[in-house]
Amino acid sequence: MKALVIGGGGREHALVRALSLDPGVTSLHCAPGNPGTSELAENHVINVTDGLAVTELAARIGAELVVIGPEAPLVAGVADELRRRGIPVFGPDQAAARIEGSKAFAKEVMAAAGVPTAASRVCRTASQVSEALDLFGPPYVVKNDGLAAGKGVVVTEDRKLAERHAQECGRVVVEEYLDGPELSLFVLSDGRNTVPLLPAQDFKRAHDGDQGPNTGGMGAYAPLPWAPPGLVDEVMETVVRPTVAELARRGTPYQGLLYAGLALTSRGVRVVEFNARFGDPETQVVLDRLATPLGALLQATDTGNLGGVTGLEWRPGAAVTVVVAAEGYPGTPAKGDLIGGLAEANAVEGAYVLHAGTAWSGVRDVKSNGGRVLSVVGSGADLAEARRRAYEAVSKIELRGSFYRTDIAERAALGQA
Ligand code: AMP
Ligand code: GLY
Repeated sequence: MKALVIGGGGREHALVRALSLDPGVTSLHCAPGNPGTSELAENHVINVTDGLAVTELAARIGAELVVIGPEAPLVAGVADELRRRGIPVFGPDQAAARIEGSKAFAKEVMAAAGVPTAASRVCRTASQVSEALDLFGPPYVVKNDGLAAGKGVVVTEDRKLAERHAQECGRVVVEEYLDGPELSLFVLSDGRNTVPLLPAQDFKRAHDGDQGPNTGGMGAYAPLPWAPPGLVDEVMETVVRPTVAELARRGTPYQGLLYAGLALTSRGVRVVEFNARFGDPETQVVLDRLATPLGALLQATDTGNLGGVTGLEWRPGAAVTVVVAAEGYPGTPAKGDLIGGLAEANAVEGAYVLHAGTAWSGVRDVKSNGGRVLSVVGSGADLAEARRRAYEAVSKIELRGSFYRTDIAERAALGQA
């Protein structure tokens, strides 16, 4: 199978790596990719939200599978364009991707499907916002209605801050605060049949102890030793299958990966958000554990053959990823600084470095080129070993002004959420 991966972050490097380990994948391309993917795939410079450009590239290289990593091309309708041309694609059409592209649409689908989520109000004016904040009380949760790369949400006790965020965003969703630990469950869907991957946990806040602003994600681990037995079955039954059925009923069947962001609250499981794609950085740990070849699995979401997939194989043990972020992230990140220690980090047993916001500097050196610069993965017999290896590899990285969280999977290694 010839495969093309769209995107250029840590998630896409993880996808390229997993596809490179699949014996069924004979040729691998990535657009735009990054220095990390260039070691495993041929990179192509194109505008990935331009459906025609993506389709032309896919046709030119004879792609038998196009894997769309990020949300922007999905929301722009790139998958629609590929399907129109008969090119197999992993990722939902524009209409189904609205489950991520509009928080208000996601809430509407959940209401129609009877899926448990935070009570919410869509607000357009300051007085609607004020009323909704009164209704739900603190801590206040205010979400930008559109795409915001994980940074459009403010959760705060500070009413002024909540009001200011709403004002800056325009149309917002104000909602009830959900307590309890969060987890991410990725589910493959061919429009009808669904297959869950391993649940993972992501660390959204910038600093240790869940302090600081929300980010795209500063680290992740899988599996979850603290997850109650039967959790995945329960989420499939109460959240995933009703949502996929509701989208099919509306004539917009969901083909690709449905990402359920969940909170295990004192009152039961609630959906925090849906995404229309693999999560970043959770993908880095979930794919590290997956033993089933990835190519045919992703292709089956397009051809409607997921019903034939009876169970996935997972490697025993655990994986942890730690994101190395640039100075200034999640605000304006510093760019263009040389990155040292990549070879040393890759030499740590059970660890490897996935590139995210990096670029070539000359022909050999790599420099920072984004907020989340690297996603360092460690794996081992258990979370404690995986953590040790990930952090040992992180300690080899040299990047001026960079920072990372030191508490990724710390509690989980002790069996706690
Ligand atoms: P979202 O973009 O909707 O995933 O929100 C980003 C992060 O904000 C989530 O992962 C949560 O940590 C937090 N968050 C979002 N909605 C809520 C909520 N209703 N209650 C508590 N925390 C929330
Ligand atoms: N890690 C959160 C996300 O991918 O949205």
